[in-house]
Amino acid sequence: MSEQPPVASGESRAQLRQMLLIGLVASILGIALALLIDWFPVPASEQAGPIDTLWDVLLIASVPVFVLVETIVLYCAIKFRMRPGEELRDGPPIHGNTKLEVIWTAIPAILLVGLCTYAYVVLTDIEDEAAASETLNVRVVGEQFTWTFYYEGEGGDEVASPQLYLPPNTPVDFTVQSKDVIHDFWVPAFRMKIDAVPGIDTHLRVTTTDRLGEFPVVCAELCGLGHSAMRQSAHVVSREDYDARLAELSRAPGGGGGEGGGGGETDGKTLFTEAAQPTACRSCHTLADAGASGTTGPNLDEVVPDLSEAFIKESIENPDANVTEGFQPGIMPRYGDSLSPEQVDALVKYLKEVAGQ
Ligand code: CUA
Repeated sequence: MSEQPPVASGESRAQLRQMLLIGLVASILGIALALLIDWFPVPASEQAGPIDTLWDVLLIASVPVFVLVETIVLYCAIKFRMRPGEELRDGPPIHGNTKLEVIWTAIPAILLVGLCTYAYVVLTDIEDEAAASETLNVRVVGEQFTWTFYYEGEGGDEVASPQLYLPPNTPVDFTVQSKDVIHDFWVPAFRMKIDAVPGIDTHLRVTTTDRLGEFPVVCAELCGLGHSAMRQSAHVVSREDYDARLAELSRAPGGGGGEGGGGGETDGKTLFTEAAQPTACRSCHTLADAGASGTTGPNLDEVVPDLSEAFIKESIENPDANVTEGFQPGIMPRYGDSLSPEQVDALVKYLKEVAGQ
């Protein structure tokens, strides 16, 4: 085994300079690329601005760290690789470098503490802002696999809505609850999300802007087979439309009752919109007559006119007997277990009468 001369310190400094230069160029390219990517949907809340800035700062801070580590790894793997004839050679004996270890521990520690402090300040600030002024209270209840939104209706009673309606430029305090497992209430356009945990209330504060539109509400916590289908909409509508929508909900049959069992209810429309248990049909299906626009299950205005009463009845009592192509089995509950035969018949009759109008 031949003795290797130690690397001259001049050559070593040149290698270090070369490595840092490659790292610097790669960092600049990486940051530019990261900032060019459109990471989020259009912002629809006051909170979105500070959150997007926080995201950009985190990218600017973390991309160079990633690039630096990758550059050193790749550089060393190429530059110091074993060449033919070097199989038996050993590297120079190194017993560590205290100065280097202090530096590479201190810099990430300072960086992490700084970024955590900044993120904490941003997150507490944006919630304070929303809590400060006149607030709209909405109770959000998650269950497998739908969200229901409860408002204070005209008579002071709580009214339920399958879709989220909000007026513009309004601070909203969401009280988030779950009936079964852990879900996560998330409106990406608002940039805010929070877990819905059975047994406790969690809170989320958002201030809408003057951007009107329909924004997806999704579940961000794996909660079962229908998790991916647990999607509804947040409609930010004009003040007049919001008031009209709330008045309409207050008048809806069973609307004032909030949650309630199917009981002995045998009116098809009431079963469809509110009373069917465990989840009212309108949460997942579209049916114009009931004002329902769910997309988790098939659009009933489209499919029901072509179906026999027996087929519809079986699809309600035991949905997995006839899963429509393109929809997942196992999501729709077996209503044969929770509804009486009279209630199922009332639903079938109602659907045959109104679907496709
Ligand atoms: Cu609810 Cu995922």
